Amino acid sequence: MPGELTKPDRLAPVTAERGDEQRALFRRWPAGVSIVIAEVDGIRHGRTISSLVSLSLEPPLVGMSVAQSASIHELLRSADTWAISVLAGGQEELAQRFARSGVPPLVLWDGVETRDDDPRLIVGAAGWVTARTVEMVVTGDHTFFVGHVESVEEGLAPTTLVYAYREYHAL
Ligand SMILES: Cc1cc2nc3c(=O)[nH]c(=O)nc-3n(C[C@H](O)[C@H](O)[C@H](O)COP(=O)(O)O)c2cc1C
Repeated sequence: MPGELTKPDRLAPVTAERGDEQRALFRRWPAGVSIVIAEVDGIRHGRTISSLVSLSLEPPLVGMSVAQSASIHELLRSADTWAISVLAGGQEELAQRFARSGVPPLVLWDGVETRDDDPRLIVGAAGWVTARTVEMVVTGDHTFFVGHVESVEEGLAPTTLVYAYREYHAL
């Protein structure tokens, strides 16, 4: 019976702890690590994200899921465009820094080398994507931003930063 197949006893039931269970499972799901940066009226902010996904090639679309509680959420909603640096192996300090809450801008950006042609792109990354928002979809407590790719470029770094089992790995 299809009903029985979809609800075997060994599956975790939907409970108040569901968030914990979902988080625990997705710790086992290796994900690339990026920093998304947006700038509006001279205010630049960046956050570490692992939800970047390539959605479509024709037209070229990428997406990312950002918590509505995230400090970058409103800036992203008002920015027309955003820039992604796909981090390279060895850039975990940046990943940690841009994931930390409440870091003052001076400290956040201290020593962060950005590209001359676009201060939203971080030097030494494995690659870069800039995108223009074409859709914002509210998905529970997150917003899924769909972006039309404006530029995409691979970097020279030989490895990419990956997060799994609560640790960073160079792959
Ligand atoms: C490896 C890693 C991946 C993350 N991916 C996302 C993500 O895809 N979306 C998101 O909203 N937050 C993600 N975060 C959390 C944010 O980077 C940040 O920690 C969170 O928004 C809290 O900072 P804030 O208080 O400044 O918003 C991730 C954090 C880490 C360490």
